[in-house]
Amino acid sequence: MFNIKPVESITLIAKNETMREMLFRLDKIVDSDSSILLIGETGVGKEIIAEYIHRTSPRSQRPFVKIGLSAMPADLLESELFGHEKGAYTSASHEKKGLFEIANTGTLFLDDIDDVPIQIQTKLLRVLESREMMRIGGTKPIPIDVRIITASKVDLKELVNKKIFRADLFYRINVVPVKIPPLRERRDDIPPLVEHFLKHYKPDKKISINNESLRALVSYSWPGNVRELRNVVQRMSLYTDSKIKIEDLPPEIRNENPVESLIKACNKCYVDGTLKFDEIVKCLESNLLNEALQNTNGNQTRAAKSLGLSLSTFRDKLKKYKLYCPKN
Ligand SMILES: Nc1ncnc2c1ncn2[C@@H]1O[C@H](COP(=O)(O)OP(=O)(O)OP(=O)(O)O)[C@@H](O)[C@H]1O
Ligand SMILES: [Mg+2]
Repeated sequence: MFNIKPVESITLIAKNETMREMLFRLDKIVDSDSSILLIGETGVGKEIIAEYIHRTSPRSQRPFVKIGLSAMPADLLESELFGHEKGAYTSASHEKKGLFEIANTGTLFLDDIDDVPIQIQTKLLRVLESREMMRIGGTKPIPIDVRIITASKVDLKELVNKKIFRADLFYRINVVPVKIPPLRERRDDIPPLVEHFLKHYKPDKKISINNESLRALVSYSWPGNVRELRNVVQRMSLYTDSKIKIEDLPPEIRNENPVESLIKACNKCYVDGTLKFDEIVKCLESNLLNEALQNTNGNQTRAAKSLGLSLSTFRDKLKKYKLYCPKN
């Protein structure tokens, strides 16, 4: 329904304007070999988008190889990425290809690049610069032709400033940075995603969802983003073969009131344990303005109306919170 480009085995739902613009921008550069850095919170869809890029690129018939770089000791990670020659170390009883070699002529997706140890960063940089690599214990350089897609949960620039991420590697991988918004900032994607997951989990049943439940799903803050939504829909679909009702939703979603979810939508304010009345009010106001603008595609007149405010009051508040909207 809202697929951007039909790709075999991938259905990417994107009704939200920001998401669609992001995907259209991506479509323009998929044919190039430029490195892409996907930035977004957990569960926003970094991996599915990486796969979409690969499947729509001229490399689609070549390998797509992914690896999560977190939670792996540096030695093991090095051998996974670059492979080793027989006898490179005592346990290396035979030669092993690394993922760079396996992905050769295709795409290599390096997930959680923000967690990669500094010594591996240096090695990665060398491969990306020279377009060749050496297995551990090897002496002969192997030419490498891979498109690199990386993903990060945090703003890598901050890690560069803190000197825990190499600036030169950052510039190499950050050729095309792509921010994937959290689900709470694109709530119009929630209904089509629910429909998509219901079809996926119960393909032979027509399950519907009543308005009250859909409203609760749309106003929930989704800290785990699309993955959390997918899991909730999977669980709900286990319990019914016909219509999902509010009692079928998990309590945290059923009970969350809209004010609570708006506060949670503000990462800064919510994470900060020392909430003050003024901060909550500011947070609520600016979130309400933002949401109204998003729901009306940046149209200030309609956004003001949807909040029951006059256009001048709405604009004063935009100015107060420095929320500038270039569309009108
Ligand atoms: N736009 C979308 N359309 C359809 N399915 C989606 C979409 N975005 C995410 N998903 C699904 O949601 C789940 C989580 O997405 P994915 O694994 O790509 O997130 P992620 O950003 O890589 O998460 P993490 O940071 O935790 O690794 C997957 O099952 C994925 O297929
Ligand atoms: Mg992922």
